[in-house]
Amino acid sequence: MSERTYCGDFRDSQLGQAVQLNGWVETNRDHGGVIFLDIRDRTGLVQIVAHPDQPDVHALAHSLRQQDVIAVSGEVVARSDDTINSGLKTGMVEIVAGSLIVLNRSETPPFPIEDDCNTGEQHRLEYRYLDLRRPVMQRNMMLRHKVTHAARNYLDQQGFLEVETPILNKSTPEGARDYLVPSRVHQGSFYALPQSPQLFKQLLMVAGMDRYYQIARCFRDEDLRADRQPEFTQVDLEMSFVSQDDIMALAEGLINAMFEAGMGVSLNAPFPRITYQEAMDKYGLDRPDTRFALEHVDITELMREVEFKVFREPAEKGGLVKVLRIPGGASLSRKQIDDYTKFVGIYGAKGLAWIKVNNKAELPAGLQSPIVKFLPESILTRMLDACAAEDGDILFFGAGDRRVVNDALGYLRVRVARDLGLIPEDEQSFVWVVDFPMFEWNAEEKRPQALHHPFTAPDLEHLDQLESEPLSLNSQAYDLVWNGTEIGGGSIRIHDSEMQQRVFAALGIEEEEAREKFGFLLDALQFGAPPHGGLAFGLDRVLSLMTGSESIRDVIAFPKTQRAADPMSDAPAEVADSQWQELGLRKRRKVITE
Ligand code: AMO
Ligand code: AMP
Repeated sequence: MSERTYCGDFRDSQLGQAVQLNGWVETNRDHGGVIFLDIRDRTGLVQIVAHPDQPDVHALAHSLRQQDVIAVSGEVVARSDDTINSGLKTGMVEIVAGSLIVLNRSETPPFPIEDDCNTGEQHRLEYRYLDLRRPVMQRNMMLRHKVTHAARNYLDQQGFLEVETPILNKSTPEGARDYLVPSRVHQGSFYALPQSPQLFKQLLMVAGMDRYYQIARCFRDEDLRADRQPEFTQVDLEMSFVSQDDIMALAEGLINAMFEAGMGVSLNAPFPRITYQEAMDKYGLDRPDTRFALEHVDITELMREVEFKVFREPAEKGGLVKVLRIPGGASLSRKQIDDYTKFVGIYGAKGLAWIKVNNKAELPAGLQSPIVKFLPESILTRMLDACAAEDGDILFFGAGDRRVVNDALGYLRVRVARDLGLIPEDEQSFVWVVDFPMFEWNAEEKRPQALHHPFTAPDLEHLDQLESEPLSLNSQAYDLVWNGTEIGGGSIRIHDSEMQQRVFAALGIEEEEAREKFGFLLDALQFGAPPHGGLAFGLDRVLSLMTGSESIRDVIAFPKTQRAADPMSDAPAEVADSQWQELGLRKRRKVITE
């Protein structure tokens, strides 16, 4: 095969050279005899010139339409001064076509193959192969390759082994619903697709592999949002004989290597750490965006003293009353406040009380608010002091159940910051969240559930409270948060069989059930399991932040829709009756109600 130059690689150092290239026709312009073609491949675009003194080439060029795929041989020539395109890497040169072959014709594409194609996502996904031909998507895929490659290199240098773990598994609980695959050989039994390689990577530590990693596909059947997919990719790793600090330092090195490859700049590690409790107190969320302040102020104690029931009741009954102070927010319109009230409703808030601080020297007349009449002046003074209110501010209040208030004011904080342009878009904030609680209360099932996963080691200092007060216990888990998105998480694991059984018991998993589900793990932990821990980064999330994509779908070659479907291949789809039979499955007869 003779040497081919990629379209984006032509430079004026090649003037006079005979070259060959392949690509897709982007535009075809006939300038009174001379035809100009823009030809693109994944590296970029170059201009081809077909002169009428080459009648065959000229005629073929004339016939070319958008997205026809061609081969060109020709000569690199300099563009005349007035046609130099400084906006294009190859803009100094053009290729005078000596021969031209049409390798394949294209139908008119259903949408323009360009960055701003302005087409609904459903349509883009239906013709994903054309969507992926758009330069922006090709850049995303090339970035994905670079970043993944950098992760592999880094981990290889750090002595990690890449090991593949099975896709057809017994279910591992990571908190989401499993995707199930019926077994033909064992009728009535199902494999579960892995929600993560968690148990296998721990077993690899028991096996003495010492350091494992995998670019691992994970499957979770959960309600989808912009930053979630039913199948997604983790950069997953596990290490033996290490402390939490060792793992976090390794993870900082890894994310830095990925960041350097993807963004061309280094990160400032070590990253700051905040405790889960501090994150909840200040930001209401365990994945705080720390690029801007707008910290919450807890006024629960103060509200025990007031008559106003909306505030007093939660204060007395273990709930929360918090303030979000927006500097300069007194200029918000009624409509904006109404919008924010609706917004917090999504998170279960029953209302959004507010106070505009027009003149704090004059209480209560200097305050504009639907609730000031319910609050005595002395309380108002202390409240304004507590949140350091200034004239021109607006204070938003959340009162009620802890979770609802934290969610409502947590998401409101981010929403308002975005609306008011308070987020420095070119700053990056990386922060570790540490000291997570070991368990949270599952109100539906009336039992504690693991906040990370059931294999996470508890904080050993308060281990004696595991049975008596499980909810008071912290775990040795940590999350890495980038600009308010959780991009990774992990923990030190339990490596002692007895401790693992105690934790299962605290989770309300009976001994028999534990044996049935995790017998292999409990056994393995009895054969010299080393102390170990690890972490997984969500690769798709990292990439969507790097590219500034609105959704992680833009960094995944063939993603699913929000309804977990693929509009191109029409997955999921019905299967033949014979396949049902082979699997020993029977369709439920549809009940016709008419
Ligand atoms: P966790 O469940 O926190 O931990 O997942 C690790 C990271 O994976 C990403 N992630 C997702 N990305 C896209 N779509 C999803 N549906 C999705 N769910 C999670 C997130 C998250 O931080 N086995 C443990 C890791 C460990 O303990 O080592 C685990 O899976 O960025
Ligand atoms: P109400 O007494 O229900 O008319 O509420 C008075 C004010 O308090 C209104 O501005 C409501 O939006 C607000 N409010 C009501 N419930 C809550 C709540 N749980 N948290 C914060 N503000 C609330």
